[in-house]
Amino acid sequence: MSAAEPRRPVIGVIGGSGLYDIEGIEDKRWERVATPWGEASDELMFGTLEGVSVVFLPRHGRGHKLSPTDLNYRANIDALKRAGVTDILSMSAVGSLREDLPPGHFVIVDQFIDRTFARAKSFFGAGCVAHVSMAEPVCARLGDALERSARALDLPVTRGGTYLAMEGPQFSTKAESHLYRAWGCSVIGMTNMPEAKLAREAELCYATVAMVTDYDCWHEDHEAVTVEQVVKVLLGNADRARALVRAVVPSLGAARPACAAGCDHALDHALITAPAA
Ligand code: ADE
Repeated sequence: MSAAEPRRPVIGVIGGSGLYDIEGIEDKRWERVATPWGEASDELMFGTLEGVSVVFLPRHGRGHKLSPTDLNYRANIDALKRAGVTDILSMSAVGSLREDLPPGHFVIVDQFIDRTFARAKSFFGAGCVAHVSMAEPVCARLGDALERSARALDLPVTRGGTYLAMEGPQFSTKAESHLYRAWGCSVIGMTNMPEAKLAREAELCYATVAMVTDYDCWHEDHEAVTVEQVVKVLLGNADRARALVRAVVPSLGAARPACAAGCDHALDHALITAPAA
């Protein structure tokens, strides 16, 4: 197929904490996809939503068995790529670093700061080196679609914001939380890096819906974040996240020649290793 030939999108949905399944999927089947990077977090769920192909992956596995550090991010992204996915919607629970982003709010982030340090972050390395651009880490076309659907559903949503990815699994200290606020970050989470970097290397469109569960620990009027608090809010967020997925996926179904934002040809000028003579 030539690059300019229209392709039917396949929408990948990565479900974060609290989102282990999506409703309304037809012809649903769970299937393991093997990768050379090891095991993905779980089997992938294949199906359709209003005729549009969807592939769902619960990021932490069904039953939430994998910690952010232990996730095999390369296997997850590669499994989605091998499943034919063209666009990834990453649904992620986060803490808020801003007063105007309260628990229950959704943020369609447009930037990331990666403070993770104990994860494999690239498909490239020994033998084949590539440097993809991460200047615009989020696909604007997917961001537009998410924003339209979220507003149509009357969800509390903000377009734009910076996601600070921390290693975890412990939550931040107050000093760290204040530092990230001083850096201008909007939300904090533990999983979207290196996920976004690997999606770019795999030439997949990627966008994050950051679903706020707490005010992290900087906020004087709120208790420091606890798992109990996070779980309570994320169960409410999960219902609205499912509604958002059901609304946005059908809107992304039209065949398209290439991503206008360029995500699907990110490697065109990225390989620096010379071809073998
Ligand atoms: N996920 C949900 N809330 C969080 C927080 N405050 N920090 C990091 N990850 C989170």
